[in-house]
Amino acid sequence: MSNVTIMNHPLIKHKISMLRNENTGTNEFRTLVEEIAMLMGYEALRDLPTEDVEIKTPIETCKSPMISGKKMAVVPILRAGLGMVSGILALVPSAKVGHIGLYRDPKTHEPHEYYCKLPDPIEQRTILVVDPMLATGGSGSEAVSFIKQHGGKNIKFMCIIAAPEGLERLQKDHPDIQIYVGQLDRCLNENAYICPGLGDAGDRIFGTK
Ligand code: PRP
Ligand code: URA
Repeated sequence: MSNVTIMNHPLIKHKISMLRNENTGTNEFRTLVEEIAMLMGYEALRDLPTEDVEIKTPIETCKSPMISGKKMAVVPILRAGLGMVSGILALVPSAKVGHIGLYRDPKTHEPHEYYCKLPDPIEQRTILVVDPMLATGGSGSEAVSFIKQHGGKNIKFMCIIAAPEGLERLQKDHPDIQIYVGQLDRCLNENAYICPGLGDAGDRIFGTK
């Protein structure tokens, strides 16, 4: 599992436990998703390219590394992935944002695409795909395929909770990408929901249903 990083930080674990709690309301849920995305993003972006920039300190002039912001794109899978964008933009404010709209058919659990717009050109960018949930892996895998079809090469996928089934599928379909997981859960239930999971992430972020 060398291309998979499972987070092992007490702050992330604590916040994910709060997310799971059915009594956590929409407002707090949203804040937690944003905070977890930022904490995970810190890890996932540790190989972002930097370039030396000349800076004049009060003492002298030096060359010092800065992030080449133009080289990054964050791509949320709608809807729930939207909740993670602000956490990543807090780290890299100059990142471009793409969107991939997918919903799961409630019966077949297959993803259906309804909207896609990516920064153009995308080839040179580090692309961070974000979605809180990786369940069957159908949506994540489809999103990564779409980005590849549009020329994306350096792709990372970040989710807060994954099921073993989804992680296996994403790795099998896209062995070339880096995957970051907040917590690996036990399994999927008969409705393809993650157990113990946190329920429907989109509904909990947006207060629907
Ligand atoms: C959820 C979630 C993922 C997908 C994961 O989205 O945010 O995108 O399900 O399931 P999978 O791994 O089995 O594909 P959903 O389809 O419920 O749409 P929503 O975010 O608009 O609620
Ligand atoms: N989508 C969710 O929001 N939650 C799950 O447990 C599975 C898919």
